[in-house]
Amino acid sequence: MSKAPIAIIGTGIAGLSAARALHEAGQAVQLFDKSRRCGGRMSGKHVDTEVFDLGAQYFTARDRRFAETVRCWQNEGWTAEWSPNLFQARAGQLSPSTDEQLRWVGTPQMASITRALLGELPVTFSCRITEAFRGEELWTLVDGAGASHGPFSQVIVATPAPQASALLAEAPKLAAVAASVAMEPTWAVALGFATPLDTNVEGCFVQDDALDWLARERSKPGRDGHLDTWVLHATHQWSRQHLDLSKEAVTEQLLGAFAELIDCVVPAPEFTLAHRWLYARPTQAHEWGALADAGLGLYACGDWCLSGRVEGAWLSGQEAARRLLEHL
Ligand code: FAD
Ligand code: NAI
Repeated sequence: MSKAPIAIIGTGIAGLSAARALHEAGQAVQLFDKSRRCGGRMSGKHVDTEVFDLGAQYFTARDRRFAETVRCWQNEGWTAEWSPNLFQARAGQLSPSTDEQLRWVGTPQMASITRALLGELPVTFSCRITEAFRGEELWTLVDGAGASHGPFSQVIVATPAPQASALLAEAPKLAAVAASVAMEPTWAVALGFATPLDTNVEGCFVQDDALDWLARERSKPGRDGHLDTWVLHATHQWSRQHLDLSKEAVTEQLLGAFAELIDCVVPAPEFTLAHRWLYARPTQAHEWGALADAGLGLYACGDWCLSGRVEGAWLSGQEAARRLLEHL
């Protein structure tokens, strides 16, 4: 009888990093995601011919292994450098803020990386896993519709911490660690203008009540839509305070803050789109790498195990796979 596959819950960059490492080591994996597509917080939205990165805007590579991997992604055409005209805004004042930092984006969208990593690996989308339980030796997953999936030899939970704790119930210590992680929300708003705004701002770190970051999507490599497209991110504090505001009201307020800040006339946008990320980033970084109960065959990974960034999530997925392989 062939060995049961390894289940991976979550197809963000952490889950896919683990999946690729296990696949390359000859292990069979089966992925699940509650969404209709992979990518998690690296995913974007399509509006006609325009694509927006609504979550992760770019990423940096400080770890040697991640930097080498990003170079491979670049060679494959999945990622490219983004060197925006960077600004910062303090007390409502814009000033140039260029630096030497190498920044990367997926091409033609952030989710191109996760799509390429997923490749032909077996995945079940639109499937929210609500429970993972272990029989005598093997694991079964149960989804929100009550259907069972399995058996699996091991399980890797690669969801944000608040969603991971319930799935880690068979290992109460791991569940308690995940439950201890608080994550902050972020409201994101995308704007498309028919006429390019008369500004040379392409990215801006903002220190404001409402705004935290703004990016001119069109300045990223590989984005060749027709509109002048922008993404605005609210600060965690503002997002928390306005968690239940309607999308229309959030758009109006952030668009207002943007128009006040940017150094040009802002006409009415052709379209707007708002998205609320409930679990955008952990309140603090950790040094767990990944969580493991090797005896049970239960693992957890995600950005919350390291830094709340793309790099941290990828490294965490590698660590979960390494620890699992070590115990085979
Ligand atoms: P996720 O991407 O959240 O993946 C988890 C997956 O699990 C999701 O696909 C979800 O649908 C799925 N899932 C959850 N629960 C279940 C369940 N019960 N059953 C099945 N599937 C489930 N990082 C940077 O480096 N640079 C940036 O500029 C940057 N900007 C950001 C801006 C915003 C607004 C946000 C939200 C994040 C940003 N980040 C940034 C952080 C970065 O996006 C994350 O660190 C990284 O993408 C997290 O990857 P992950 O795989 O750990 O989790
Ligand atoms: P990074 O090194 O570009 O940025 C780190 C932080 O340094 C920035 O947030 C900013 O405050 C400051 N900074 C960097 N360059 C600057 C410049 N030229 N001028 C002024 N300030 C500058 O990238 P890193 O460390 O990879 O972080 C990734 C980015 O992801 C950060 O911007 C972070 O805020 C963002 N992020 C946002 C989340 C959200 O929910 N909104 C979640 C996770 C990450």
